[in-house]
Amino acid sequence: MRQDESFYDARFARQRVGLWCCGGAALPDYFVHPTAIVDAGAEVGAGAKIWHFSHVMSGAKLGEDCNLGQNVFVASGVTVGKGAKVQNNVSLYEGVILEDYVFCGPSMVFTNVKTPRAKFPRKNTTGYAVTRVGYGATIGANATIVCGVTLGRWSFVGAGAVVTHDVPDFAIIAGVPARHLGWACMCGVALPPKPGHPAGEAVACGECQRQYETTAEGIRCLEEDA
Ligand SMILES: CC(C)(COP(=O)(O)OP(=O)(O)OC[C@H]1O[C@@H](n2cnc3c(N)ncnc32)[C@H](O)[C@@H]1OP(=O)(O)O)[C@@H](O)C(=O)NCCC(=O)NCCS
Ligand SMILES: [Zn+2]
Repeated sequence: MRQDESFYDARFARQRVGLWCCGGAALPDYFVHPTAIVDAGAEVGAGAKIWHFSHVMSGAKLGEDCNLGQNVFVASGVTVGKGAKVQNNVSLYEGVILEDYVFCGPSMVFTNVKTPRAKFPRKNTTGYAVTRVGYGATIGANATIVCGVTLGRWSFVGAGAVVTHDVPDFAIIAGVPARHLGWACMCGVALPPKPGHPAGEAVACGECQRQYETTAEGIRCLEEDA
């Protein structure tokens, strides 16, 4: 999903955030499309891109080089990690934490109250539930994350899944409710072992050859920084 930014030069970004190059004032080092709104008090990291009709509230924190697609909403208090990609039509409600390099597929849905009622709002009694998405994790298109769960590092949620429980690191889950199908490589491709495998086996990704080892709890990458 490539959006051509060549048309939008630095002037547009300056207009949106109200910074002008006079008296040595620093220029913003991130891009905001003219139709997007970034409220005063939002923190935006260098190299971030915020596309058409998106809204970032005061108190939100966007990491370096993150990318918010079209019609993305980021509530106050939300953290978006470095290099994260949030595709079109995603709302990051209060309580959502995206660690670095998280991928949120188009139109996926976060929630922040487990048992909402219009007449008896829970915000003031129990607050919003926290949903944490771990480093490098992917959430497929149109998936729904029921609030209060933690998605492990490099976990992979299939398109259309409804996630109701915590997800282990590297796990691939899919379906309604989501079930554990297998394990994903850091590159995104499925690894050979299936859930319930014996511990202590060496595993290599068929695509990128990264090396893993099965453990009693799941799977462990032997070259995490690769
Ligand atoms: C979950 C996913 C990663 C699995 O990919 P994979 O490891 O290559 O798995 P396969 O396609 O071989 O499917 C394995 C089985 O799981 C099922 N399956 C795959 N994806 C599924 C999904 N999202 N929901 C339910 N079942 C799914 C397949 O039908 C297949 O079942 P079968 O063996 O009975 O036919 C992938 O299907 C997916 O959903 N990717 C997300 C795509 C996306 O949303 N991209 C957004 C950016 S454009
Ligand atoms: Zn791989």
